[in-house]
Amino acid sequence: MSENGAPVSMDEIKALCKRRGFIYPASEIYGGLNGFWDYGPLGAVLKNNLRDDWWRNMVLCPPAGPDGEPLSIVGLDSAIIQNPDAWVASGHVGGFNDPMVDCRETKNRYRADQLMVWVPKDGQGPKIAFMEGEQPTPKRMKKIARSRPADDYEAVGLESIPLDQYEGIIGPDTNNPGTLTEPRQFNLMFKTFVGATSGEDNVAYLRPETAQGIFLNYRNVLDTMRVKVPFGIAQVGKAFRNEVTPRNYIFRSREFEQMEMEWFCHPDEAGTWFEFWKNARMEWWRSLGISSDNLRLRDHDQDELSHYAKEGHGTVDVEYRYPFSGDGYGELEGIAHRGNFDLTQHQEHAKTKMEYFDPERNERYIPHVIEPASGLTRGVLVLLCEAYTPDPNRPSKVYMNFHPRLAPITAAIFPLVNKDGMPEIARNLYMQLRKKYACQLDVKQNIGKRYARMDEAGTPWCFTIDGDTVQDQSVTVRDRNTLSQKRIALDKVASYLAEKLDG
Ligand code: GAP
Repeated sequence: MSENGAPVSMDEIKALCKRRGFIYPASEIYGGLNGFWDYGPLGAVLKNNLRDDWWRNMVLCPPAGPDGEPLSIVGLDSAIIQNPDAWVASGHVGGFNDPMVDCRETKNRYRADQLMVWVPKDGQGPKIAFMEGEQPTPKRMKKIARSRPADDYEAVGLESIPLDQYEGIIGPDTNNPGTLTEPRQFNLMFKTFVGATSGEDNVAYLRPETAQGIFLNYRNVLDTMRVKVPFGIAQVGKAFRNEVTPRNYIFRSREFEQMEMEWFCHPDEAGTWFEFWKNARMEWWRSLGISSDNLRLRDHDQDELSHYAKEGHGTVDVEYRYPFSGDGYGELEGIAHRGNFDLTQHQEHAKTKMEYFDPERNERYIPHVIEPASGLTRGVLVLLCEAYTPDPNRPSKVYMNFHPRLAPITAAIFPLVNKDGMPEIARNLYMQLRKKYACQLDVKQNIGKRYARMDEAGTPWCFTIDGDTVQDQSVTVRDRNTLSQKRIALDKVASYLAEKLDG
């Protein structure tokens, strides 16, 4: 994970994110709120940079298609709250559920599909439930199973255990068997009320995905933008899911951001486009400096397909090797072949024609949709995990190896000491560079501490103004990754940055 291969824990990454102002728990002074996070000064810029890169790659400068011609993709920014009928049509009111079980003793709630159970191979003794990826500790095994070794058990999913055997299961946070309730379906959409009265008639939902806003505007875009199939509509924005078990830091939150693109194409060409987008999306993640070793594509099994993908032809996930996924991987982006499920549903429910007349084929059809759907905030988590690099050769011992075009601060400017004309030169340089680059002028503390702070912020280049600058108008540029230092002319700093970033 880290460049030198050292194991990195999520706790270390979280500590750096707090210390350097990337991410804070939401409403921390009131004890926080499970599943909600605030992005601090550096985190907000990192997130914006990732968003802008995605937008550039999707809308402003999309990849060339299989025939070498640039693709046509337009942007959109739809409302978070839409007519609730839209969520009935999309299948979210009826089907956007997770199975949950409660513990009657601790009042904790778990997703049934994320609970594993150790079942004794000899059938003797209690069955022991635990959250996927968090096996019972030796201390816990000593307490509840008299230190029986893990080899004595077989791990199975809770959902495969018959209900009449639940009384023999010890829940993840209790020492007593029989406290888990049977699984119940729990709808993940947040409800709110529109207008002054709070009756059921006024219920609306916070969108659980940005995708539906795109389907609702497909007709508008088609009628106003002179696009022709195949084309795409892209959108970035907040989504909300009342997750049963938000966990793993910002990985699964209740409020998060998505970057989604719906690619509308002829049904006969959907398979080709599905393959195209799988490759294009992997390529983009790699272009951000995410190592191929930590990325993979994984096809969904039939039983994990979303309601819309069942109507289409499958989903593949781009997965990343997160520190908490052990030897395994976790989802970063889903690429789904949604068929014409959504447009057909909206055509029926809204009584609005979603057909497209294809002049080249002289044919009328409802386009099929390929959807690359990624998490912006989950992408930020990947950037943070990937960038965290322990390095015994530096005072801070760690630096954030962000791709320079994503780093929240591109360049730092330091006067070596605050006298002899150095602060004035540093300030002038800062005033010049900040017009084009995200820069920080730092005049406090000794130079080692200033470098260390910039290493943890992931700043690729630091420029130091020293006694020689006053004499010969040159500055020291220090490289974040190699720690190498060299002198360049003061008036060449801007072109140095331009060359590094664009060249
Ligand atoms: N429109 C399709 C859709 O929403 P999804 O797989 O449920 O598909 C797409 O979500 C992406 O959104 C995921 O791959 C993930 O990156 C992100 N995402 C989903 N739920 C999330 C959550 N609770 N917290 C953070 N990111 C989430």
